[in-house]
Amino acid sequence: MSREIAVLGGTGNIGRALLRELAGLGHRAVALVRPGRGPAVAQYADPVEVDMEGADGDGLVRALKGCASLFLLTPFHPRQDLLQRRLARAAAAAGVGHVVKVSALGADPASPVLVHRQHGLAEQALARLGLPYTTLRPNAFMQNAAQWLPTIASRGAVMLPAGRARVSMVDVRDVAAAAAALLTGPPPGQGGEVYELTGPEALGYADVAAALSAAGGREIRYLDVPPARAAEAMRAGGVPDWAVEARLQLYATYVAGEAETVTGAVKELTGREPRPFAAFAAELAPRLSKLKGEGP
Ligand SMILES: NC(=O)c1ccc[n+]([C@@H]2O[C@H](COP(=O)([O-])OP(=O)(O)OC[C@H]3O[C@@H](n4cnc5c(N)ncnc54)[C@H](OP(=O)(O)O)[C@@H]3O)[C@@H](O)[C@H]2O)c1
Repeated sequence: MSREIAVLGGTGNIGRALLRELAGLGHRAVALVRPGRGPAVAQYADPVEVDMEGADGDGLVRALKGCASLFLLTPFHPRQDLLQRRLARAAAAAGVGHVVKVSALGADPASPVLVHRQHGLAEQALARLGLPYTTLRPNAFMQNAAQWLPTIASRGAVMLPAGRARVSMVDVRDVAAAAAALLTGPPPGQGGEVYELTGPEALGYADVAAALSAAGGREIRYLDVPPARAAEAMRAGGVPDWAVEARLQLYATYVAGEAETVTGAVKELTGREPRPFAAFAAELAPRLSKLKGEGP
């Protein structure tokens, strides 16, 4: 319809779902993608190729010129706060009228948890720029379950350093739907609103494994592993040290009960109940049943 909504991360988890959601609402967005990735989003959006890490400030401003709103998403990255600050400054310079930022539940500029601190600092930077913005703070994504498939195949188990934590995981399609509602309407309230996005229930990982078992038609257990062993496995899989540490910090917050809150924000923004984990697990069934391996 118009080239008004700019979307970052359109080839990623939330962004892919967001471009589809916007297209369904009659909006063909401008997808700001890494050079060479234009074709991956062309079905639903007009690609503009820009390297969010390598481009200079002017390049970012040029890419955002003429856009009324921006979906601000950056990847898990050691300097995510800096990436977000540069993008937010460029949005302000380009005259973008509303920024919808993906943050994380627990965001706090003073947090000892890297990801929470990065998002807290980025939120603070946005507030200081004075342009209208809205913050989405999702809990852990259900789609992270794809990372568990290797140990489900090899050990018949979801293996995490999560103890008896309960987590109200959210489906990225609900995050995308919430973002689409915000991007296609005026900024809510006075601006600066924060929405904590969660799924409909807080589940322990034994419950999660039971849902995957039911969906996949095979027994899948949950094994609580010590953080040091989880770190070893991540390093063996090629995860860099900063990312290993960041993930362990997040699991420690889950164990401390900081990810079990359940909110009504998805319904408030989209008018629909958030998807339950069992529905997500059912969609994962074909991948679960294709997994070869010893099983339990
Ligand atoms: N995972 C969770 O459970 C969770 C929970 C709460 C909050 N979050 C937050 O959610 C955000 C991540 O969302 P997501 O999972 O949807 O992201 P994602 O799937 O990791 O996708 C990252 C996107 O950024 C793009 N990108 C990376 N580097 C780029 C560059 N230099 N130039 C242009 N584009 C680039 C990627 O493009 P390519 O496809 O080309 O690489 C991809 O589209 C992070 O801010 C994270 O802190 C995550």
